[in-house]
Amino acid sequence: MILEAIQYAATQAVTPSEFRPFVHSSVNLWSRANRCTKAWAPHEANCKAFIGETIAGMRQRRTAVVLGSGLLRDVPILDLARAFDTVVLVDLVHLASVRAWIKAKRFTNIRLISRDLSGFTDTLAGRMPEPLSFLRQVPYLDLVVSANILSQIGVGTRRQLAQSRHDDADAIVSSLIKAHLDGLSALPCRTALLTDVSYKVTDRGGAVLEDADLLCGVPAPIAKRSWFWTVAPYGELGRDRQAVHQVIAV
Ligand SMILES: C[S@@+](CC[C@H](N)C(=O)[O-])C[C@H]1O[C@@H](n2cnc3c(N)ncnc32)[C@H](O)[C@@H]1O
Repeated sequence: MILEAIQYAATQAVTPSEFRPFVHSSVNLWSRANRCTKAWAPHEANCKAFIGETIAGMRQRRTAVVLGSGLLRDVPILDLARAFDTVVLVDLVHLASVRAWIKAKRFTNIRLISRDLSGFTDTLAGRMPEPLSFLRQVPYLDLVVSANILSQIGVGTRRQLAQSRHDDADAIVSSLIKAHLDGLSALPCRTALLTDVSYKVTDRGGAVLEDADLLCGVPAPIAKRSWFWTVAPYGELGRDRQAVHQVIAV
């Protein structure tokens, strides 16, 4: 609790005011990731390996952008920072501990951008969401990694919609998920998409207590790799329940 309070206060202090409401959920993610280190390790290794494979064959390595860089747990940041001239990390929030780590490692080629990547503000303004259009302005862009952010765009948008009592939440979330996928596939550079696409909550006997499509009906692109990620091992959600997500790498 004390570490969380310090992380929270330190991150609030370095986060632009419009993104401060999201600090709480980043700190929660950090705490959960620390509690679930063992259960998450295979997923994180798979993500890093996939990004490693993606960059291995690249001849030009000028700028890499990581969308949803978060805690830098599933992103091989050392490899990226060594391989690329510039690495741009984009997220709603960059935790104080992540910022301190980057500083301590003296990576002068890593840039941090706080940005809402959902496209929801476009939707609210009655425009077609184009959440990745800002990437057109990034010079010498050679790689974009979408790092386990896509399903979270849906989760976050639903949370915001619940407050404003919209009845077309499903349609809005689907349109934002589609906009992210369309935006990625339209980029004129190498891309890697890592995302969970569905989950099941099961009991110790294997009975399915809950399941959901995290892409809200939007067809997932054809995966190059796929695996299961135990997001909530037994004890996290309840003593006899676990949540396992299916992840794809494209
Ligand atoms: C599951 S975490 C990804 C973990 C991260 N790739 C890592 O290596 O630790 C999802 C990340 O997406 C970010 N995120 C969620 N919604 C977002 C949005 N609308 N815009 C930008 N980032 C968002 C969260 O802040 C979080 O860091």
